[in-house]
Amino acid sequence: MATPGTDRYAVIGNPIGHSLSPRIHSLFAEQTGQRLQYDRLLAPLDGFREAAAGFFAAGGRGLNVTVPFKLEAAAWVDELDEDARFAGAVNTIRLLPGGALEGFNTDGPGLVADLGRHVRSGVKLNILLLGAGGAARGVARPLARALASRLVIANRTPERAGQIAAALSAQIPGLEVSGGGLEAPSGAFDLVINASSAGLDDQAPAIDPALARGALCYDMVYGAETAFCRWARRAGARVAVDGLGMLVEQAALAFELWRGVRPETGPVLTALREDGST
Ligand code: ATR
Repeated sequence: MATPGTDRYAVIGNPIGHSLSPRIHSLFAEQTGQRLQYDRLLAPLDGFREAAAGFFAAGGRGLNVTVPFKLEAAAWVDELDEDARFAGAVNTIRLLPGGALEGFNTDGPGLVADLGRHVRSGVKLNILLLGAGGAARGVARPLARALASRLVIANRTPERAGQIAAALSAQIPGLEVSGGGLEAPSGAFDLVINASSAGLDDQAPAIDPALARGALCYDMVYGAETAFCRWARRAGARVAVDGLGMLVEQAALAFELWRGVRPETGPVLTALREDGST
């Protein structure tokens, strides 16, 4: 039950039981002294719009959106920010004072913020992005804008990588970007990001391990020792990092959009690691 006067937020998805978002947002609320309630909202696979509309009709102020509803959310909201428009996907919805719903995608900015813990600020990188599905498309624009001197997108289905590369090149003048198959990349990279779902069933990426040697390797999936991180360490990566930090950073950006206050993410990341969440 909501306490009267407490603003309500939720994460909507299916499944949703294991979402760390309620824990993260309650730590943010405690830290910033904001009074709010943040719940999990399980929507039927064919019932996103009804559940989301019902949440706002009942006084909800904002939603995080997760699998499998991010694309549907982008089609549903009234307004989209630029990153959400490029991604065609929304992970954060904010209720505007006039009643309109505004959709954002904080995944990419969250990734960029977490990468900031591992790279010197202002430096542009030679980046290899693995995968060309929703996760890759969701982060490609902010990643390219903030951090890339050169971006190579490699995917099992080369055409999908080519499509993202073409869309980026049209939007970001001067960016050196290409997309192709997993066998296409060559040379050395500063940063290798796994946005493919191959690792979820414990598969290592089907790319030449030499590509990861000396690189910062980042798995957008989180977990104590993901298949990609294991592979990266064996391949001689400078450092291999899982995506828990990205999860916390994308949440912090959503919290700021809703509450106008940017929480500190470091202590929350530490608390989650101590929880044994990963
Ligand atoms: P998500 O929203 O997690 O990105 P998705 O849109 O289904 O999910 O995309 C999954 C990505 O992982 C795609 O890039 C997919 O490659 P294809 O475009 O060729 O389908 C990639 N992927 C999934 N399983 C893979 C595997 N076994 N090996 C290599 N790539 C894989």
